[in-house]
Amino acid sequence: MVYKVKFGEPIETFSVVKKVAESENLDFFSVKEKKNEIIFEYKLKKNDIVFGLGEAHGNLNKRGFRCVNFNTDNYYFSENAPSIYASHNFLIVDGKECFGVFIDTPAKTTFEIDYNQSGKIKVICENKNLNVYIVTGKNAYDTNRQFLKIIGKSFVPPLWAFGLGQSRWGYKTQQDFENVINGYQKNKLPLDYVCMDIDYMDRYIDFTINKNSFPNMKKFVSDCKKKGVNLVPIIDAGIKVEQGNKTYDEGVKNNFFCKDKNGNNFEAYVWPGKTHFVDFLQPKARIWFGKQYKDLLECGFTGFWNDMNEPAIFNMDFFDAQKQKKQIFQKTEDYNAFYHNLNGKTINHNDVHNIYGHLMTMASSNELKKLDERYLLFSRSSFIGSHRYGGVWTGDNFSSWQNLKESLPMLCSMNMCGLIFSGADTGGFAGNCSEQLLLRWLAVSVFTPLFRIHSDISSSPQECYSFGQNDKFRKILSLRYRLLPYIYAEFVKSAMTCDLYLKPLAFVYPNDKQAQNIQDQLFVGQSIMIAPIVEENAVERDVYLPEKMTKVVFDGKNFKCENFESGNHKIHCELDEVVFFIKDKCLVPVAADAQNTQKINLTKVTLLGNGTTYKQYIDDGKTKQISQKNIKILKK
Ligand code: GLC
Repeated sequence: MVYKVKFGEPIETFSVVKKVAESENLDFFSVKEKKNEIIFEYKLKKNDIVFGLGEAHGNLNKRGFRCVNFNTDNYYFSENAPSIYASHNFLIVDGKECFGVFIDTPAKTTFEIDYNQSGKIKVICENKNLNVYIVTGKNAYDTNRQFLKIIGKSFVPPLWAFGLGQSRWGYKTQQDFENVINGYQKNKLPLDYVCMDIDYMDRYIDFTINKNSFPNMKKFVSDCKKKGVNLVPIIDAGIKVEQGNKTYDEGVKNNFFCKDKNGNNFEAYVWPGKTHFVDFLQPKARIWFGKQYKDLLECGFTGFWNDMNEPAIFNMDFFDAQKQKKQIFQKTEDYNAFYHNLNGKTINHNDVHNIYGHLMTMASSNELKKLDERYLLFSRSSFIGSHRYGGVWTGDNFSSWQNLKESLPMLCSMNMCGLIFSGADTGGFAGNCSEQLLLRWLAVSVFTPLFRIHSDISSSPQECYSFGQNDKFRKILSLRYRLLPYIYAEFVKSAMTCDLYLKPLAFVYPNDKQAQNIQDQLFVGQSIMIAPIVEENAVERDVYLPEKMTKVVFDGKNFKCENFESGNHKIHCELDEVVFFIKDKCLVPVAADAQNTQKINLTKVTLLGNGTTYKQYIDDGKTKQISQKNIKILKK
C-alpha cells in the first residue's frame, strides 16, 4: 500500500508519476515542527535493518550512518563528506515492521540512521513544504518494488551503451580520440564508445566544437561509428557569459537564466569562467535547453553526459583556470544568492537545490527522445525520478580499494531508488590507478549497466592498453561481451517491470538471517550472484551461499562450472579471472566473444546453469518500442 501526507505547499519535483492516495495521518513517524525546519523521527528496534538512500557512502545497511542530502561536487569522494552528487531521500526499514518512506523535498535534508546509537531514524528537512510517501509491503523487496512502481519505468539506452566506454579528461584532439580507438582495436580489446570531455568544446562553451581540433565533426562521428565506436560528448550546466554565444544570447533574451537578488542574471564561475545557470524550473526554459542539443545531434551524436549540475560553483579567488584546478567552491552564500521563477513566483535556489540536475536531465531528454532511435544520457547529479530520463554515474571517485568496495552498496542502493542505469568511474577518477586495481574494478563493473573507465587529467593513463598486459584485460572485458545477452535482457526486464537490476541478498532470501547481513555480495538480475574480490593482493575470499548454486569461473575463454552446496565457502580468483554464481534452477545465456556490440549475436547463445527455461529480452538494440513481445523463451 502507498499513501502520501502533504505538509505545507510542496513544489513539484517530478519524482512520483502514479496517482497516490492522500492521508491526513502519518504512520510510523513522530513529527516536530520548528521555525525553519520539520523533523521526522522513527524509533528503531534492535535488529531492524535500514536500506536505501541511493547515492551515498556506507554499507547496504545504513544503521550508524548520517548524510546531508544536498547535492555537492565532492571531488575526491572523501568518505567523511556528508554530501555527494545526488539526493535520494528514500529508505526502507526491514524488521518486525516493514515500510518504505520517501521524503519528497528538493531542499537540504539530513538523515541520521541510528547515528551515535540514538536508536532512531531522524530526518531533518530545511523546508517545511513537502510530501511524505509511505509504502508498506510484505517484506523489504516487495516494499521496494511498490515504491519503484510509483516513480515509473526506467529509460532504456541503446545496446551500444552496454558496451565498454573509455573516458579521460584530457583527450583534446581528433588524433587523441583516434589513438584511443586504435589502442583498443589493434590490441583486440573490445570498445563501444569514447567520451568527449570539456576539451572538445571551444573554450568550454556548451554546444560548440573546437574547430581547430575537429575540422569536420560530422565526418569524424560517422568514421568512428564505422569502426563500431560511438562518441559521447559532455555538456556542463553553466552557460558561458559571452555575447555571440548563441545559448547565452537566447537565454538572456528570453529570461531563461537564474536571477540574483536585484533581478540581474546570476553569475557564477565554472569551467568556462563566468557563467549563467539555466532556470530549469521554467517549463519553457527546459524545452529551449533541450533544443540546444540540436546541432550536436545533427553531427550524429546519440549519447551525452551532463555534468556540473548540482550545480557546482567554483570560488573565483581560488580557481586557477590555467592549471584547471578547482578549489574551494559551493559556499552556502552562493546558493542563497540566486533565484528561480516558478510560474511567476520567485524561489530561492536553496529551496529547490536538489532537483537542479534532475531537471537538467529532463530538459535534455525532451529533445533526445525525438530521435528515431534510443539515446544514451547519463548525469552526475540526480534526484528520485531521474531514471525515467537518463542514467547516472556516481561522480568523482578516487582510485582506491575503499572506493571500489563502496561502489557495490552504493550502486545497489541507487537501484532501490530506481536508478538502474548506473555505474562508477571504473578504476577511479582522481589519483593513479594501478593495474591490479583496474583489473579488479573491471571485474565488478562488467556487471553494472553503465560500464565506463574514466580518469582525471592529472592521473596516470587508465586505458586498458596502457599497462602492457593486454591479455589480462582482454580476458576480463571478454566476459562483459559474452554476458551481454543476459545483462541486456535482465536490464530491460527490470526497466519494463519496475524492478531492481542489482539486489541485496536480503531481498532474495528474506528469511535467511545470514543473507540479510551480507554487504559485499549482490544479485545481478535474477540468476547471477556476485562476490567480487575488492581487497588488494587478495586471491581468495569468503562467500556465503544461501542455497546451492553453480560456481562459474571465467578464465577468458571457458566457463568452468561447479556445483556448490549452500553454506560458507572460500573461493579463489586470480587477477585475470572472474568468479560468479548462478542461482539454483536458473539459467544464464552467453554469446560468443565480440569486439563491440555491433558484432554481438544475441540470438546465438549457450545456456549456463541448472535451470530449464530463460526469458531473454531481445531486439535490435535501438528500437524505441520496448515490448513484452520481444521476450523469447529459451529452453535447455
Ligand atoms: C568534473 C566531472 C568529471 C570531468 C571533469 C572535467 O569533475 O565530474 O567527470 O572529467 O569535471 O570536465
